[in-house]
Amino acid sequence: MKKVITYGTFDLFHRGHYNIIKKARELGDYLIVGVTSESYDIERGKLNVQDSLLKRIENVRSTGLADEIIIEEYQGQKVNDIIKYDIDILVIGSDWRGKFDYLKNYCEVKYLPRTKDISSTKLRSEKHIYKIGVVADDDKDGGIVEETKYVSGIHVEGVYAPEETLAKEFCDKYELNFHTADYEEFLSSVDIVYVKCVLKKRADYIEQAIEHGKYVISDSPMTLEPETLKALFKKAQEHQVVLVEKITFVYLRAFNQLVWLTHGDMIGKVVSVKCAISQDVFGGGKSFNETVSHALCAVMKLLGKNCMEVTSNPVKDGAGHFVYDMITMKYPDALGTIEIASTLDIENSLVVTGTKGRINIPNDWWNTGYFEAKVEGNEFLKRYSFNFEGNGLRYLLQELLIIISDRRTECTRLFYDESEALVEILQTLNQKG
Ligand code: CTP
Repeated sequence: MKKVITYGTFDLFHRGHYNIIKKARELGDYLIVGVTSESYDIERGKLNVQDSLLKRIENVRSTGLADEIIIEEYQGQKVNDIIKYDIDILVIGSDWRGKFDYLKNYCEVKYLPRTKDISSTKLRSEKHIYKIGVVADDDKDGGIVEETKYVSGIHVEGVYAPEETLAKEFCDKYELNFHTADYEEFLSSVDIVYVKCVLKKRADYIEQAIEHGKYVISDSPMTLEPETLKALFKKAQEHQVVLVEKITFVYLRAFNQLVWLTHGDMIGKVVSVKCAISQDVFGGGKSFNETVSHALCAVMKLLGKNCMEVTSNPVKDGAGHFVYDMITMKYPDALGTIEIASTLDIENSLVVTGTKGRINIPNDWWNTGYFEAKVEGNEFLKRYSFNFEGNGLRYLLQELLIIISDRRTECTRLFYDESEALVEILQTLNQKG
């Protein structure tokens, strides 16, 4: 029996996909089709896939041509599959010509001509492009213009700034399509609003955007008033839109994997979560509130949102400026510790210690694709590494597009009640500080 295998993402299933699967089937007696998993696509930098894995598998299955469907989950899997399934021929489109020649040691490799004038990329570009508008009060874009280039279906169109000159300057700098100092006009020209301005004005901009039915991404924190935040989330749900707080690390594969392993008992019962974060290195100097929000969020993701008590010990310089703090978050049987500094050169890291081991992310833990674990009974450090590019915003944007297409009104990476619990702690810290 001649066994054939072929692989693909098969996003927005089209006749090019059907043709290659059909030709592959005709070359043998048994056809296996490998469909890429979501995490593998993200890992190889393909962030624009629109259909879920289940849908893509279902589309391949409904051709009736595949005898078996497998999932391609990691780089290097093809060699393993060819040996495991005793494959005679690997079939792939001519766009990959030469790229799989190294597999010729294992089986025959056939590059077949692609079907002309059709591709998932082309179909994706014909779909709706969501227009992002930035609310700015300085000429920095927070990386959004660059990051959107890696996520298809989304584009930064224009900018609003309360002063016309600043709006124009911003627009020219990032080569956007429009600028305005009229917020109503701005809202009528975009689908998604990115609020990137001083904290005290954020809530107003967010509220108006939601009332106009816009999706919103806002710098964190959105407000220091828990009641205001609750009202904003309520309004978002009433208007069937989603309000996303810009804490990007909760969208990263490495951080999520770390949380899953921790909650999956890899290091036993968690006793301590310790994170250090410095305002200076964090995105080139952020406010205390924005920096500490990230740390609070990390502790909460690992220990839960029911923190019993928060204590802080701020150190100030002679002029009364914040310099350093060691914040503790008390849980019934664990402790979260946050070391935060403004100008001091502290060592950034995140360490989760449990009764059976520890997991840690060295250096800038909020912006990484890496972590390591040391588990009882294993003398070696286990290293985990995932593809990570840019400043993390592209992963948030990609998730936002999925939320929009699923018509959800809440993000599951950072739930509304988690953001609310976070702001309550922030409020306490600000009152104390
Ligand atoms: N394919 C083809 N003809 C096309 C499009 C794809 O023969 N017009 C083949 C590819 O060469 C590959 C398989 O179908 O062997 C799965 O391709 P995939 O990358 O999933 O589809 P594309 O349309 O090429 O996707 P994209 O535009 O995202 O690269």
